[in-house]
Amino acid sequence: MKRLLTTLLLTYSFLGFAQNLISNVPNRNITSLNGVWNYIIDPYQTGFYSFHLDQYDKQEKPAKGAFFTNYHAQNKQELVEYDFDKSPTITIPSDWNSQVTELKYYEGNVWFKKSFDYNLAANKRLFLYLGAINYKADVYLNGKKLGTHEGGFTPFNYEVTTIVQPKDNYLVIKVDNTRHKEDVPTVNTDWWNYGGITRDVTLIEEESSFVEDYNIQLKKGNANIISGFIKINNLEASKNQISISIPELKINYKGKADNSGILNFEIPAKKISYWSPENPKLYDVTVNFNGQKLNDKIGFRTIETQGDKILLNGKPVFLRGISIHEENAKGGRANSEEDALRLLNWAKELGCNYVRLAHYPHNENMVREADKMGLMVWEEIPVYWTVEFTNKNTYQNAQDQLTAAITRDKNRASIVIWSMANETPVSDARNAFITNLVNHTKSLDNTRLISAALLTHNGKIDDQIGKSLDIIAFNQYLGWYGGNLENAEKTFWTTPYNKPVFVSEFGGDAKAGFHGEKNERWTEEYQEYLYIQNLKMIEKIPHLSGLSPWILVDFRSPKRLLPGIQDGYNRKGLISNNGEKKKAFYIMQKWYAKKKSEY
Ligand code: GCU
Repeated sequence: MKRLLTTLLLTYSFLGFAQNLISNVPNRNITSLNGVWNYIIDPYQTGFYSFHLDQYDKQEKPAKGAFFTNYHAQNKQELVEYDFDKSPTITIPSDWNSQVTELKYYEGNVWFKKSFDYNLAANKRLFLYLGAINYKADVYLNGKKLGTHEGGFTPFNYEVTTIVQPKDNYLVIKVDNTRHKEDVPTVNTDWWNYGGITRDVTLIEEESSFVEDYNIQLKKGNANIISGFIKINNLEASKNQISISIPELKINYKGKADNSGILNFEIPAKKISYWSPENPKLYDVTVNFNGQKLNDKIGFRTIETQGDKILLNGKPVFLRGISIHEENAKGGRANSEEDALRLLNWAKELGCNYVRLAHYPHNENMVREADKMGLMVWEEIPVYWTVEFTNKNTYQNAQDQLTAAITRDKNRASIVIWSMANETPVSDARNAFITNLVNHTKSLDNTRLISAALLTHNGKIDDQIGKSLDIIAFNQYLGWYGGNLENAEKTFWTTPYNKPVFVSEFGGDAKAGFHGEKNERWTEEYQEYLYIQNLKMIEKIPHLSGLSPWILVDFRSPKRLLPGIQDGYNRKGLISNNGEKKKAFYIMQKWYAKKKSEY
């Protein structure tokens, strides 16, 4: 029976159905496939379709022209028109735009190939985990299709137990970053469409029955109960011993999974040192399943609203934040711990206790470093501007990205807000789309707050979707996209909601080192004055509980074209892409220092 179940499971996964996401990957028995890969630029998808557009991976026996076969000519006569091993190389993880000059603006298909050996013991299982690939990936191992994944900022994995071989495995991935109206995000974004295998590629070795996922957090509304679930993949009735130990809390809970492989638990806990920005306490937690130990570091805290206040561990807190895009010092996709520390240390220097990770789930290093450093996090899915709200596939894509983000990050105390969207135009379809995402979020995690960055109308923060949200967040650009900075102090905002209000974006561009009068756009003085005036106005917003100016660092955008000033960069950063702090940085830093003293 057991063999049959395992075979069925493996068959199911082998058919390329995306596997349930495995969580806490960094602490598992992993082998990295990061490093030097070969790549082939394939704008006409020559390696994917025949000349009559037959899709090679749908053929019974794929033609040797199919790049995922990694075929090599067997003799001097044979016609083969590609060769990964003779093709250029690139370091993975990375985006191709910042790594390969001629690919800076490229939107299309690139194939990647990595060869590796792997000795898998007979009773073990092996999974291929991909941290993120932007935007669409077709994944093959040893010529067999594992699956297709869409969504550029969330992880996915496939079981490869029956495909991997001891020597000369070839992992081939076709990446397509072409934008489409029905995608998430849609075709129009104010950020660079970095294509590629932009996050870690990892092999995970497991026993035939193992802990696939778990949630270990404080029970909603109860700061003295640790609750959640342990999810076993391929539970074998004869071996079903689970324990959860948290030595510092003198917890060693024992239990068994039910027939569906789930153990739901509630564990009383006393004398918890609650996680907060001032005390980012993380506990060593070990989940032990039949002797297999899975370790994690988990913080415990409560987050809730009370009227227009946000309560962290029962106390009112003001979220002193900054918005951040996921870019590294070289002007490409950030993905490493070093990249995360560079960005989050700047946020700390600014005086932040909170960061808005825009406009998509960032890499796992960002949220694990935020856990350690004591920064609360707003995590967002890229339902950005005008996605197709009436398209069912678009909704499913958005929901799948949200599920993956929550599955990966639900044990991170730093994450306090899940954001459903950014600046989406109001319509019945959009309201239904976001309300469904809100309900889906609550079904997966009822402990965190839910928001979205909204637009306003004539000084009113009155978006009807606000009734489904815990926090009313809005973006406003007084002094940049309209309005007169001179009138800032006489500009008032109203809202019908008695809920915490956030200014999720405000700001203006400045080219670092460009100086002039405060009324000269693009100068540091203009940006500085814009911050001074906006902050005078923001201080008077009713129910204000947080803000995250736009943005920490200048970032690449194909929409920002002013020569000599923007040159393909959005310059609203308080810091330039070369790491130069602008005058407005110090205005914000001073305001946060004062705000901190008030709490
Ligand atoms: C918008 C949007 C950002 C954008 C910013 C800007 O509000 O949310 O993604 O970069 O404003 O115009 O600079």
